[in-house]
Amino acid sequence: MTVNLQGSESIIGSKSFTAVAINCAAKAGEWIKSKLGAHASLSLKSSPHDLVTEVDKGSEKMIRSLILTHFPHHSFLGEEGAGAGPEASRQALEAALQAEDYLWIVDPIDGTTNFVHGFPGYVVSIALAYRGEVIVGVIYDPSRDEMFVAEKGKGAYVHGKRMQVDEADKLGASLIATGFPADHLGSLPVNLRGIQAVAPRVRNVRVAGSAALHLAYVAAGRLSGFWEIGLSSWDVAAGVLMVQESGGRVSDTSGAAYDLRVRNIAATNGAVHEELLHTLQAAGAAGGK
Ligand code: IPD
Ligand code: CA
Repeated sequence: MTVNLQGSESIIGSKSFTAVAINCAAKAGEWIKSKLGAHASLSLKSSPHDLVTEVDKGSEKMIRSLILTHFPHHSFLGEEGAGAGPEASRQALEAALQAEDYLWIVDPIDGTTNFVHGFPGYVVSIALAYRGEVIVGVIYDPSRDEMFVAEKGKGAYVHGKRMQVDEADKLGASLIATGFPADHLGSLPVNLRGIQAVAPRVRNVRVAGSAALHLAYVAAGRLSGFWEIGLSSWDVAAGVLMVQESGGRVSDTSGAAYDLRVRNIAATNGAVHEELLHTLQAAGAAGGK
């Protein structure tokens, strides 16, 4: 798979953006898996619910150095290079968007709490944006050895097979996922209102602990939709492209078009999108800007 946007970039070994993203995700993912149950340090970031280990930091360092070896003039935004909390995450994105045309957006482990507890559902998420638009998205789940890959305009794949969102046409026939945000002052209470409103209307709700994995599963048709309040660009950038390239719809929870600054996200198969947004909005669970 290639993306024809490389221009006159200096590319070692002529590797495509997507090939580099896949290589980084596979290498980092295997390393993370080898550290399962063996992390040496556990620290808290913005709250007691926001965890980081030396494995998160090591994974980001590995990915960063591989990407910058191939594309030394690109910008890089990684979760562990940004400060903790919603405001720091906003500021890090703004600074990164001011830099080069090409911006890599990386979550070195999405689902750190799962990783710490040995619960499957921790993934590497790597996106490449060109002038603010995501053109490549890769999510690797080392527990199940699943590599999800999307390229703008070329579809999204898992196990070499094209992904397609599911066909549920109402919430009543949908399996919907969400999260319990680490920000217990701002985002969590809003999301809990959403869960209370959505749960009785859907077949069931899943909370697997990784926004990136939830988005990959919407793309793969394993979930009909996903929403969450207060996410960061690195949690969702790769997965958003995956859902779009699999025939789904992504917006913020008020219905506005997705861009990298969106933190309150709704991603569905398209058919249940309006019903999900309406349910959240009626419950006062769509959050602010
Ligand atoms: C978290 C996961 C989780 C979501 C949190 C995120 P992290 O990311 O995506 O599913 O509910 O809001 O912060 O901390 O594991 O990278
Ligand atoms: Ca993370």
